[in-house]
Amino acid sequence: MDLKAEHIHHHYGDTEVLRDITLDIPSGRIVCIVGPSGCGKSTLLRLLGGLEKPSKGTVMQVGAPPEACLNPLTYIFQDFALLPWRSVRGNVSLVLEDHGLAAAERSRIIDDVLARTKLSEFGDALPKQLSGGMKQRVAIARALAVNPAVMLMDEPLSALDSQTRELLMDDLISLWTRQPFTAVYVTHNLAEAVRLGHKIVVLSRRPGQIREVVELDTPLAERSYGDAALEAQQQHLWGLMRDEAAAADAELLHV
Ligand SMILES: Nc1ncnc2c1ncn2[C@@H]1O[C@H](COP(=O)(O)OP(=O)(O)O)[C@@H](O)[C@H]1O
Ligand SMILES: [Mg+2]
Repeated sequence: MDLKAEHIHHHYGDTEVLRDITLDIPSGRIVCIVGPSGCGKSTLLRLLGGLEKPSKGTVMQVGAPPEACLNPLTYIFQDFALLPWRSVRGNVSLVLEDHGLAAAERSRIIDDVLARTKLSEFGDALPKQLSGGMKQRVAIARALAVNPAVMLMDEPLSALDSQTRELLMDDLISLWTRQPFTAVYVTHNLAEAVRLGHKIVVLSRRPGQIREVVELDTPLAERSYGDAALEAQQQHLWGLMRDEAAAADAELLHV
């Protein structure tokens, strides 16, 4: 299933947040959305996920969701959003409980996603016993459990330290390489965008408009940390974003 946004505009009261966004998220690809703080990235993600309706324009799901898909669109947030009183298995199980699956089938799905996210040994642990990186892997496992058509990821690594971020990026790349998923990945971190994005959409400051769309052909598995071509791409993106970010920063000071 592809996700398409056509000529989206969005306002909150008198505040124009997004202006004329047209965007294609093709099946099996990771589309990164970058832009300065407050430019409307999270808003765009909520519109794509149907949590809010755009003031103007349309969001379309094109084609059928994958087989055994329990939930076409699923979110992954920066703060993990795990239930503290539930174990790792319990947290993953939660998203399966409303779907009328037999207990054995639920167990099979949980075993599968915990193995894919390297959490098999930690099924009985509580969130408070886990590091930030492991908590986010639980959130990723929980998202994968519903076999979504599109994962909507809002700054999923932003709460983690830089080493953990590198490890999680490696994990996401190997996860995608073994079994490609479709994702919209919002980040303000350009290094993440050039590691993970097949396509990178650069937004201007608010009202967010598309400044440029960069397609990256290098296979994800070949994008190593510190690669010169990726660094050059990152520089290019920073060139686009630098003035927008500076202006956005100055604007926030006057709010
Ligand atoms: N529910 C809301 N009501 C009013 N204003 C909002 C709401 N959500 C976001 N905004 C405003 O919309 C703008 C974009 O916010 P957001 O999408 O969170 O930006 P980003 O994720 O790029 O930092 C900001 O100015 C923010 O204050
Ligand atoms: Mg945001």
